[in-house]
Amino acid sequence: MMSFGKFILSLLMFSGAFAMQPLSVKGRKFFVNDTQFYLKGVAYQPNVEAEKTNFVIDPLAEANKDNCTRDAKILSDLGANSIRVYAVNASLNHDKCMQAFSNQSIYVFLDLANPKTAIDRSSPTWNIYQYANYTKVIDAFAKYNNTAGFFAGNEVVNNASNSASIAYVRAAIRDSKSYIKANVNRSIPVGYAGADIPYIRTKIANYLACNATKSANDTDSEADFLGYNIYEWCGKSDYVTSGYKDRTEELKNYTVPLFFSEFGCNLVRPRLFTEVAALYGSNMTDVWSGGIVYEYTQETNGYGLINTTSSGEVVLTDDYKNLKKQWAAIKPTTVKKSSYKPSGTAPACPAVASNWEVTSKAFPVTPNATVCSNAVKKLTHCTAKGSPDGETISDTLSELCYYDSDACSSISSNPEQGTYGKYSACSGVQQLSFALDAYTSDHGNDACSWGGVGTLVKN
Ligand SMILES: *[C@@H]1O[C@H](CO)[C@@H](O)[C@H](O)[C@H]1NC(C)=O
Ligand SMILES: *[C@@H]1O[C@H](CO)[C@@H](O)[C@H](O)[C@H]1NC(C)=O
Ligand SMILES: *[C@@H]1O[C@H](CO)[C@@H](O)[C@H](O)[C@H]1NC(C)=O
Ligand SMILES: *[C@@H]1O[C@H](CO)[C@@H](O)[C@H](O)[C@H]1NC(C)=O
Ligand SMILES: *[C@@H]1O[C@H](CO)[C@@H](O)[C@H](O)[C@H]1NC(C)=O
Ligand SMILES: *[C@@H]1O[C@H](CO)[C@@H](O)[C@H](O)[C@H]1NC(C)=O
Ligand SMILES: *[C@@H]1O[C@H](CO)[C@@H](O)[C@H](O)[C@H]1NC(C)=O
Ligand SMILES: *[C@@H]1O[C@H](CO)[C@@H](O)[C@H](O)[C@H]1NC(C)=O
Ligand SMILES: *[C@@H]1O[C@H](CO)[C@@H](O)[C@H](O)[C@H]1NC(C)=O
Ligand SMILES: *[C@@H]1O[C@H](CO)[C@@H](O)[C@H](O)[C@H]1NC(C)=O
Ligand SMILES: *[C@@H]1O[C@H](CO)[C@@H](O)[C@H](O)[C@H]1NC(C)=O
Ligand SMILES: *[C@@H]1O[C@H](CO)[C@@H](O)[C@H](O)[C@H]1NC(C)=O
Repeated sequence: MMSFGKFILSLLMFSGAFAMQPLSVKGRKFFVNDTQFYLKGVAYQPNVEAEKTNFVIDPLAEANKDNCTRDAKILSDLGANSIRVYAVNASLNHDKCMQAFSNQSIYVFLDLANPKTAIDRSSPTWNIYQYANYTKVIDAFAKYNNTAGFFAGNEVVNNASNSASIAYVRAAIRDSKSYIKANVNRSIPVGYAGADIPYIRTKIANYLACNATKSANDTDSEADFLGYNIYEWCGKSDYVTSGYKDRTEELKNYTVPLFFSEFGCNLVRPRLFTEVAALYGSNMTDVWSGGIVYEYTQETNGYGLINTTSSGEVVLTDDYKNLKKQWAAIKPTTVKKSSYKPSGTAPACPAVASNWEVTSKAFPVTPNATVCSNAVKKLTHCTAKGSPDGETISDTLSELCYYDSDACSSISSNPEQGTYGKYSACSGVQQLSFALDAYTSDHGNDACSWGGVGTLVKN
């Protein structure tokens, strides 16, 4: 009898005190149950500077469970209700860390990319490898109720000259959303964390939220939320001179939740965090849902809320103490989900312009490894196994496509015109096969030996 009673008790404690209700989105606000939710977040990626190429130091991995337990308490004491994590290793186990944060009622906003799989603004792609990596992260984290949302990209566009890379972000959002819809038994919003770029920030926001049903015949590819990494308020600024007023007015009709996915300028130190009163005050709460302070640990760039001594003791910085005071003082107004009526219509898609080299008439194709490998098997002229020694596949492809652009039509993309070849999301070797096959078809069997990479398909 005794042990039975104990069992019931621990079960109740688990589902009661430590269960977290998933975050939900309605209109442009976040909710937990019926109550509106404002992010009081902290960026959490300790040790990022120690990362080596191809290796992610995953702060939520089992090996860091003691740090997670310790840090979740420190963050809860700070008044935080969420963290943002920039890169994880989906092969590892995250149960303990996610539970440690759940124990302190802390939600996790997670970037789906890592430095190796992120959309590269200088040569943007959304391909079968990126898709497989993103969806693996979704699989690893969808099971936790405190997984609050996914970022499909972070500051991918940082200049008008690479504005076209936003097309791949919208495709990544679309495909992550449909993957969640098909494979996860609850909804988890997918959004983007944008850089604060004068001239095009509103275009980025509108491009990601615009209704492309008419232009691209594309539904459900809109971002579910938008984050801005914003460092406009330094020291004792104010709502108007900081730029916050302009940012708020620019987006006052936005239809999905907006928040600061990073904030906390450190040009004046210690940081006073006087912007907190503005961000969670009545000038801004209609438009913004709070924000995420950059960042938890002290790294060489000097944004740490905590520091560690050489013996591993945590030291709270003045920044921590100031932020704690500011967060304790806010009382943002909330609405009830049940009585909240979303208003407004999605923004118009921005038109192509000299500083906006991307149309909304079409988006990059959905990567599908099965489609790619089946199509390679059906090629009838020539296939490739790799690039010539000492040359990358993308170099070989550039040469071939420069020489015969028609041969590359099924793998080429032009975001400004909205043309995306049906095999443009396949792997590099597969793309080389499609191009060489077409090239051989045009120029005869000898052409298959181009660059020494092709093998004739025996009929
Ligand atoms: C997760 O959320 C669901 C839906 O609200 C709830 O039924 C469940 O108990 C929660 N699970 C945990 C482990 O907190
Ligand atoms: C949300 O609702 C569930 C079930 O109705 C309840 O158990 C839980 O305490 C509520 N959570 C919050 C944060 O209000
Ligand atoms: C992820 O973890 C696995 C298992 O420890 C390791 O083999 C792999 O290299 C890691 N990947 C990254 C990108 O860190
Ligand atoms: C979460 O809280 C429960 C109940 O207090 C505890 O047993 C468990 O060890 C905690 N988990 C972590 C990872 O801190
Ligand atoms: C993730 O991407 C890497 C690098 O592109 C690739 O080698 C790997 O196969 C991908 N992972 C999965 C699960 O497909
Ligand atoms: C998008 O536009 C289509 C037709 O133009 C309309 O039917 C649909 O309701 C719109 N969706 C949103 C979310 O505004
Ligand atoms: C839009 O997509 C639907 C469903 O895939 C299709 O039936 C319809 O023909 C498409 N319309 C246009 C204009 O492409
Ligand atoms: C917001 O919507 C109103 C009403 O439709 C419109 O007059 C105004 O120009 C819009 N403002 C912005 C910044 O889009
Ligand atoms: C709200 O805006 C007004 C002027 O637009 C400004 O004077 C006031 O300081 C702002 N309030 C906060 C809390 O920033
Ligand atoms: C953080 O700690 C290091 C040594 O552990 C020290 O050199 C540095 O001054 C500290 N920084 C702050 C902001 O406390
Ligand atoms: C865990 O915290 C200790 C300091 O207490 C630090 O030295 C170590 O690097 C941390 N581990 C990670 C992965 O952040
Ligand atoms: C990939 O293509 C195959 C074959 O056409 C199809 O059955 C499958 O549903 C597609 N997968 C996705 C995620 O669209």
